[in-house]
Amino acid sequence: MERREAILVLDFGSQYSRLITRRVRECQVYSELVPATTTLAQLQQNTHLDIKGIILSGGPASVYDADAPTCDPAILHSGIPVLGICYGMQLLAQQLGGRVVHTSEQREYGPATIEVLAEAAQDAQTFRIFAGITASPEQTIELDQPQNEDVGAGLPRPSPIYRPEGWGEADSPPNVDAPLRLPVWMSHGDSVAQLPPGFKVLACTENNPVAAIANPQGIVGLQFHPEVTHTPQGKEIIRNFLFRICGCTPAWTTGSVIEEAIEQIRQRVGQARVICGLSGGVDSAVAALLVHRAVGDQLTCVLVDTGCLRAGEREQVVETFSTHLHIPLVVIDARQRFLTRLAGIIDPEQKRKIIGEEFIRIFEETAEQNVLVPLAGTRGIAFLAQGTLYPDVIESTSHDTAATATRIKTHHNVGGLPEEMNLHLVEPLRMLFKDEVREIGLALDLPEEWVWRHPFPGPGLAIRIIGAVDEQRLAILRAADAIVIDEIRRAGIYRELGQAFAVLTPLQSVGVMGDERTYANVVAVRAVTTGDFMTADWARLPADLLARISHRIVNEVPGVNRVVYDITSKPPATIEWE
Ligand code: XMP
Repeated sequence: MERREAILVLDFGSQYSRLITRRVRECQVYSELVPATTTLAQLQQNTHLDIKGIILSGGPASVYDADAPTCDPAILHSGIPVLGICYGMQLLAQQLGGRVVHTSEQREYGPATIEVLAEAAQDAQTFRIFAGITASPEQTIELDQPQNEDVGAGLPRPSPIYRPEGWGEADSPPNVDAPLRLPVWMSHGDSVAQLPPGFKVLACTENNPVAAIANPQGIVGLQFHPEVTHTPQGKEIIRNFLFRICGCTPAWTTGSVIEEAIEQIRQRVGQARVICGLSGGVDSAVAALLVHRAVGDQLTCVLVDTGCLRAGEREQVVETFSTHLHIPLVVIDARQRFLTRLAGIIDPEQKRKIIGEEFIRIFEETAEQNVLVPLAGTRGIAFLAQGTLYPDVIESTSHDTAATATRIKTHHNVGGLPEEMNLHLVEPLRMLFKDEVREIGLALDLPEEWVWRHPFPGPGLAIRIIGAVDEQRLAILRAADAIVIDEIRRAGIYRELGQAFAVLTPLQSVGVMGDERTYANVVAVRAVTTGDFMTADWARLPADLLARISHRIVNEVPGVNRVVYDITSKPPATIEWE
C-alpha cells in the first residue's frame, strides 16, 4: 500500500492546535493531530503515513512550569523538519540547548508586527520559511508609520531586505527598499533569550528580538501563530514549511480522498453486508454514498422515524436516497414506540439515554429481520457504517494514547453500538473535517441543499422541547421550526449560519389576540454562527427577519403567543437548550 505523505501536529494544548491540521490540509497535504506525549517510535508505527514534517503546537504552559509538557527528543534529532509554534518554539529552543526566559513585563497578546531581518535573508537555506513572502503595499505603508517612535528604541532594527544571490524572481520580496514587516497574531509570555547552536534569528518584534528562528536542517520556530487568519501571510508561511522545507506534494485532494476511501471500504467489507443509519444530516449521507460506491447493494440504509424528526424530514430522506440516489432504504416507523417511552420524561440525559436504547433495539430487530441475513462466505459478519468525523475521533481519544482506539461518543451518534450483534464498524469519514465531507458529498452527487444542511442532533426535537415530550408539543415545535428555517432560507442566509432552529420552552405567558386574553407557549429562536460547533456566537439576524419569524409563528402556530430570540454565545451556553 502506498504511504500517504503527512504532517503530524503534536498537541501541546493550544486552542489553535486543530486549526493547524486544517490549514495544512487546505494546502492539500494530509495532517493529523496527535498527543504531545507521542514518541517518534509511536509516530513511525503508523506504516500508512510517510511523515514529512512535524509541527509542535502552541500551548498554555511555560517551559519553566514543573509539569511542562516536553516532546520526545528523538523527534528533534530525527532529521524530519520541525516547526515549533509559540510554546512549540520555546520548547524546541530549550530542548536543543537554547535558553528561554520569562518576559512577563513584555508579554505580547493579540496583533503585533514582526520585522523580517535582511541579514537572515542572505542565508537562503535557513530563510526558507519566509521565502517569497511579501506584505501588501497597504500593510507596509500603515506599518511603516509607527504611532509612537519611542517604542522599540534600543532593540535591533531591521535593515532592508534584498535579494540574495542565486534567488529567482519568485523568491525575492518586491519591496526591496523597505523592511519586510508582517502583521501577525501573538499570544505568549516567554521568549527565547539564547539560540540553540546552529540557529539564526529570522525576525523580531518591537518587544521581542527573537520572533522567528531556524536552522539549515529545517527546524523552525515561530513566536507567532501562522495558523490564524489574523496572521494574513500565515498560510504562505505554512506553505513554505510544507513545500520548501518538508518537500511535500499537494496530493490530498477530494478525488484522491474518495478513491482511497472506496478502496479501503472494499478491503474492509469484502463480500459482507453493511447497514447505515441515516440521520438526515450530511455526515451519514456521505458515509452511505461512499459505502454504496464501494460495495453497491451490499449496503442497506435505515431511517428510523422516531417521531422527533423535523417537518418533511422523512420524506426528504426517502426522496433523496431511494428516488434520487437509488440506494436501498428501509424506513422504520417507530414514532409510537419512542413517544411511549419518552412520556413524562423531563431530564435531558434521560431522554438521550432512552432514545439511544430504542435505536439500538430497532437496529437489532431490523438486522435480524431483513438486513443482516449473512451472505454466503461471510460467516455472518456484517458492518455498520457510521459518519464519525475526525474531530469526533480526536475528541474521544485526545490525550489518551497515540493509538486511536474507537470510542464512540453517544452524544454524537444515534445510539451507540449494539455489542451483541456481530457488527463491525466502517467509518469512512474518520480522517475528514466537515468541510471536506461536504466537498466529497458534492463530488458524489449529493444534492447541494443536502450538503449544506445544518446538523441535527440524533435525539432530534426531543431535546428541543424543554420538559416532557408529547405529540401535541412536537406538532407545535415542528411547525414553529419550519417557519424559522423557511424565513432564514428566504432571507438567503441559511448557509451563513451554523445552525438555526426553534425551541419550545416550558413557559406559558399572557398575551392578547384580537380581544381575547391568551395564556400560551413561549417559543425561543436560536441561530448561531460557528466553525466547529465547539464554540459559537449568536447570529445577529436582521431585525426585520426576526420580526417576520415572530409574526408568522404567533399567527400560524396554534398554542404559541410569544417568541423570544436567544442572544447567548457558546460558551457559556451550549447550542442546544438541553
Ligand atoms: P451543544 O448543544 O453541545 O451542541 O453545543 C454541539 C453540536 O452537537 C449537536 N448535539 C448533538 N448531536 N446527539 C447528536 O447527534 C446529541 O445528543 C447532541 N446534542 C447536541 C448540536 O446540535 C450541535 O451541532
